[in-house]
Amino acid sequence: MLIAHISDTHVRPRGLLYQGVVDSNAMLAAAVETINALDPAPDLILFSGDLVDEGRPEEYAMARELLQPLRQRFLMIPGNHDHRQNLRSAFPEHDYFINEENCSFVDSGSAPMRIIGLDISVPDQHHGDMTDTATQGLDRTLALEPDKPTLIMMHQPPFSCAVPYLDAYGCRGGERLAALVRRYPAVERVLCGHVHRFMQTRFAGTIACTAPSTTSAIALAFEETAQAASFVEPPALLLHHWRPGAGMVTHLVPIGVFPGPFDFG
Ligand SMILES: [Fe+2]
Repeated sequence: MLIAHISDTHVRPRGLLYQGVVDSNAMLAAAVETINALDPAPDLILFSGDLVDEGRPEEYAMARELLQPLRQRFLMIPGNHDHRQNLRSAFPEHDYFINEENCSFVDSGSAPMRIIGLDISVPDQHHGDMTDTATQGLDRTLALEPDKPTLIMMHQPPFSCAVPYLDAYGCRGGERLAALVRRYPAVERVLCGHVHRFMQTRFAGTIACTAPSTTSAIALAFEETAQAASFVEPPALLLHHWRPGAGMVTHLVPIGVFPGPFDFG
């Protein structure tokens, strides 16, 4: 099973640049082309939030147009830049969200893998919150099929990434999630976005990783006093390759068209 995973596309209304600098719409179009060129094609596509930049209806209309060429089913959760209701209105066929309050979902339609989307964003805030209610709900879901290979997707990472200005906006209550996930070894990955960089770490007996943004990379800075800044680095997506018995291997796939193949291996 092959799962393409993109994040933080930050789509703008037609003709506007992300942060006045980056053509995030063109970069999403390039990401879609890269996904469509994958051979073999993925079975499923995941978006881990910040589909658009300001949650505006015209941004979602633009995102819908840009995503149209995708041939596979895709599942998404909102991030801190999204607006839940505007997202739902623009994508009415995405009717898998569990309730009206948020955009969490459980997808078992991609057997043998179960995908859990965990919407832990807090309206008008940059951080996420793994509340007691969210933790209990996730526990009930995991307990339904405790041995089923599972991906948990959330926007803000539940671990400290050692970049101080990012940690200030991470997911609060990560220790609650860790205590829960530790009880379910069938959780193959905790997949996140938000930090606009690829990161991976050991987390509660599984692996947590973040997908890079398709549009910009946050500055690598570990000093307490560092100010938030971004770079336009080569964009990328993740490709999670899962085989029964062999587990999951995650590949970083640069977005674009590159020279090759050449006759050496
Ligand atoms: Fe973002």
